[in-house]
Amino acid sequence: MISGKSVQEALEKKKGAVVRVEKVSFSYDGRVDVLKNISFEVGRGDFTAIMGPNGSGKSTLIKLLIGLLKPTTGRIEVMGLDPAEDPRSVQRVVGYMPQRDSISKNLPVKVSDVVLLGRMSRKGPLSITTPSDLREAKRALEYVGVPELWNRPFSALSGGQQQKVLLARALAVEPQILVLDEPFSAMDVPSQESIVEILNALKEERGMTIITIVHDVNPILHHLDLLMLLNRRVVAFGHPLEVLTDRYLLETYGAPVRTVTCESGYCHPILGDRHA
Ligand SMILES: Nc1ncnc2c1ncn2[C@@H]1O[C@H](COP(=O)(O)OP(=O)(O)OP(=O)(O)O)[C@@H](O)[C@H]1O
Ligand SMILES: [Mg+2]
Repeated sequence: MISGKSVQEALEKKKGAVVRVEKVSFSYDGRVDVLKNISFEVGRGDFTAIMGPNGSGKSTLIKLLIGLLKPTTGRIEVMGLDPAEDPRSVQRVVGYMPQRDSISKNLPVKVSDVVLLGRMSRKGPLSITTPSDLREAKRALEYVGVPELWNRPFSALSGGQQQKVLLARALAVEPQILVLDEPFSAMDVPSQESIVEILNALKEERGMTIITIVHDVNPILHHLDLLMLLNRRVVAFGHPLEVLTDRYLLETYGAPVRTVTCESGYCHPILGDRHA
């Protein structure tokens, strides 16, 4: 049975929006729009996932949110700041975990340096590392469950370990909003479960606002307040009970997606080998 109450709760929460995106379009080459007329709002403490096929503009959208790219048209507000005008201030309050494929896995640096980059993001690139930065960076690595990696070369870690270090870097910002680009890729099931637990604890205990891109939504589906189906435009956005329907999935992926409805009424997409 679909619970009308949780849908209502999600809608009411959006009153205190911390992310507002209004009629945003974006193109890399000035011609073809990668994103078309995107509008949505995320409330404080909302756990939001973004799903869509490869090349649908998911990473582009979150790069716009943190000011790594500027909208061609439209306007974005993050905690009352405009990321296009003031990306530094936005990056002080947003912890960003990039898509693993987009960073060099052979960075000749130690794990501690990677996590401390989160502190630099908070304080400014020319700031000096203080004992409290070291404390916060170590705490972040501990929080994601791998404190023993502190002195290891980043390049010597497995894909899943690198992901955890990148999450620790995002947490070291001491952010108000966490923006994650495929945090579960390259992770085995127990590691995935531990990250889901961490994200849920951040939401429940610290009221963290979390926006995450996922290919497989199933590990977090029951924890989500909001879900966006994206394919260059917003196909659907709202509570996952409303958004995950055969019709919207077909519209998003361009082919029927097999689904299984669980006893709580959630429609679980089985995307299988549709994604790498
Ligand atoms: N720097 C860039 N220059 C030109 N085109 C780009 C650039 N980055 C991405 N694109 C193009 O923009 C479109 C959207 O890319 P984006 O990386 O946002 O997709 P995505 O939904 O994150 O895909 P994936 O699931 O593969 O990570 C794609 O067609 C991609 O080729
Ligand atoms: Mg991407």
